[in-house]
Amino acid sequence: MSRARVGILASGRGSNFEALDRAMRRGEVPAEVVVVLSNRKDAPVLERAAGLGIPTQAVVADDRLEQEQTLLATLAQAGVEWVCLAGYMRVLGPAFVGAFPERILNIHPSLLPAFPGLAAQRQAIEHGVAISGCTVHFVDQGLDTGPIVGQAAVAVAPDDDEHSLAERILEAEHQLYPRCLRRLLVEPWRIEGRRVHWGSGVVA
Ligand code: GRF
Repeated sequence: MSRARVGILASGRGSNFEALDRAMRRGEVPAEVVVVLSNRKDAPVLERAAGLGIPTQAVVADDRLEQEQTLLATLAQAGVEWVCLAGYMRVLGPAFVGAFPERILNIHPSLLPAFPGLAAQRQAIEHGVAISGCTVHFVDQGLDTGPIVGQAAVAVAPDDDEHSLAERILEAEHQLYPRCLRRLLVEPWRIEGRRVHWGSGVVA
């Protein structure tokens, strides 16, 4: 099977990037990370990726359109087929999303549609839920609203704070993201409305 060319967009430490890259190098996901881009020059993910021999670039611009045009040009140059957001802290505009139809994924640290946006783990603690988790979803133009590819549940312990919960959710994220990407690459699927349907058969 040919390996899909994946571009990563990340703003921070990059542990999800590493989990994806590791699973690819182990042969668990038929893909390779061909470029890692960030909207922050000082994002630790850039150093992590460079250390692994992956080309990196910081694309910093106040104007979103201008920034996205540069991102798109860089991704095109690297021959990227799939874009994985991994802690990318900027909402993508219509031109960017439209350039990769059904090929942009994000991971979010809650069971969407609960707690979209920033500090999802804090929102979960403050709301008092017993179960939270993480979601891999396609990216559309909303904030964490696209069709759901997969979810993993994480129980909230009575003595959890946002940090301890975030740590356990992160472990689940590192399993879920590669699993979802693998599934999309090896299984037939299609999106109808909000739903991702798996398999090539008729939907019941
Ligand atoms: C993760 O919790 C992810 O769900 C969210 O941002 C965080 C990124 O962490 N979108 P890392 O940079 O992958 O370690």
